[in-house]
Amino acid sequence: MQFQRVDHPVVQHKLTLLRDERTKPKDFRDLLLEITMLLGYAATRDLGLRDVEVQTPVGPAKGRLLLDPQPAIVPILRAGLGMVDGLLRILPAAVVGHVGLYRDPKTHKPVEYYRNLPTDISRRDVIVVDPMLATGGTSAMAISLVREAGAKSVTLLCLVAAPEGVRVVDELHPDVPIYGAALDERLNEHDYIVPGLGDAGDRLYGTL
Ligand code: URA
Repeated sequence: MQFQRVDHPVVQHKLTLLRDERTKPKDFRDLLLEITMLLGYAATRDLGLRDVEVQTPVGPAKGRLLLDPQPAIVPILRAGLGMVDGLLRILPAAVVGHVGLYRDPKTHKPVEYYRNLPTDISRRDVIVVDPMLATGGTSAMAISLVREAGAKSVTLLCLVAAPEGVRVVDELHPDVPIYGAALDERLNEHDYIVPGLGDAGDRLYGTL
């Protein structure tokens, strides 16, 4: 299984505050930004580097810089937007594409309604972001879309995953590593993650 739980005390602390139903949208947004910086730190550990030399005030120093062009961040609308700014804090030269998907209430299959991806996506590492990896249908489709656009290296970054969702993504995209703060118990009859944190989009934007 490709799921890598980021088991850091600060991550687990912030996740617990995010799960708490008393956490209001402003704090939810702030916490999601903060925890995404920490999850992003783990999820970017294999980015490529090039050797450089810089001058410190004292003398020459050998160093390493991230390869150009830097990654593309691709949030799945709408909840994925809540993870973009945290990633941009640690990767300020990243670019952001967007994918809009909704689940058809009859077929339960994801349907695309928006796509705007960087034209040079094939040259970038791509980080697809969505806080809740539930059934895995939308994440798997978003990964397929970025791949069709030419992406070769794709990572999925979520906050909370259900085993069902990890299995689906793993089966369709076995080479895509999945990073998250928690692997929860299961999905309920409405495809919500148990215990999860409810609807991440509603909690971010106060549309309860
Ligand atoms: N989407 C959410 O926002 N929450 C879930 O639990 C599942 C899907």
